[in-house]
Amino acid sequence: MADDSVKSEASAQQEDKNVNNTGCEKPANTNGKATAAGNQGLSKRQKKKLLKHHKWEEERELRKQKRKERKQLRRLQRQNHQEEGEDSQSAKKRPRREVTPSSLRLVLDCSFDDLMLIKDVRKLHKQIQRCYAENRRALHPVQLYLTSLGGQLKQSMDEKDKGWVNWKDINIKTEHYSEVMAKEELVYLTSDSPNVLEELDQKKAYVIGGLVDHNHHKGYTFEKAKELGITHAQLPLSSFVKMNSRKVLAVNHVFEIILAYLEKGSWQEAFFTILPQRKGAVAVNQAGTNTQDKEEEEEEEEEEDSDTAEHTEKMD
Ligand SMILES: C[S@@+](CC[C@H](N)C(=O)[O-])C[C@H]1O[C@@H](n2cnc3c(N)ncnc32)[C@H](O)[C@@H]1O
Repeated sequence: MADDSVKSEASAQQEDKNVNNTGCEKPANTNGKATAAGNQGLSKRQKKKLLKHHKWEEERELRKQKRKERKQLRRLQRQNHQEEGEDSQSAKKRPRREVTPSSLRLVLDCSFDDLMLIKDVRKLHKQIQRCYAENRRALHPVQLYLTSLGGQLKQSMDEKDKGWVNWKDINIKTEHYSEVMAKEELVYLTSDSPNVLEELDQKKAYVIGGLVDHNHHKGYTFEKAKELGITHAQLPLSSFVKMNSRKVLAVNHVFEIILAYLEKGSWQEAFFTILPQRKGAVAVNQAGTNTQDKEEEEEEEEEEDSDTAEHTEKMD
């Protein structure tokens, strides 16, 4: 018994000598490969380790290849990131469109508060917000005025959009526009005027009625302008576009048409850029008429759009 235990101790030591410090068996021959003969006398555990080691050795090239591929991929990713970064930097550096403010004054006359229900005041509020935002991003922003601010409209602004107090590049007045500007500089824009605006005079102040009335107060601003003895004019819509609805536009559309005209220098382009599709605007040809086809198209559009008379007064 004692002899046996000494023997097994000695063979264990011999086995251990064949195992290197990585836990793997040292190569049993010179070319580094353990021969079947060399494996004889190894314990199961050692054989397993040896096999593992061989597998590890055999897969060395494969691992190397994979490492190379991963490295290449990382390099490519780095390059892409760099290029993207350069792109976004060059986008940042791209010069902004050069903004040249216009000296033209555009007044939103808010003196009709008493004529509107709160739901229409809210619509007007949105239209004013739109005018402000469009002017801020315009190529030729106008000198924007908000006059006669008070009543329900101011309440709506205070409740729904407290940020209005920080609005920039806008003149907000509680006074009526006639107290802020000289009469002879004023032109009231109204669809009921028999005068048709041909071009814009940078020295003038054009007034837009801050009124959402669904045609309940037809001709109201026209009468007011006459009362005050100030010039009035309608946009030259008929000369450039034929529409399938009446020519009373929403405040923000009139405002945006003026901004577009200042940018493009063409009423036709301005109308087509700004007017909503459903207004069914089509170009008037040089003889001032449209083709039969166009009229048929308009009729179809009219049928689809039962709310035509009022829809421009809603925000798009
Ligand atoms: C919804 S409209 C109000 C209509 C109102 N019944 C009135 O008497 O003016 C809002 C404002 O946009 C302007 N506007 C609308 N359509 C116009 C057009 N075709 N030409 C000139 N101004 C227009 C006017 O200043 C008008 O007061």
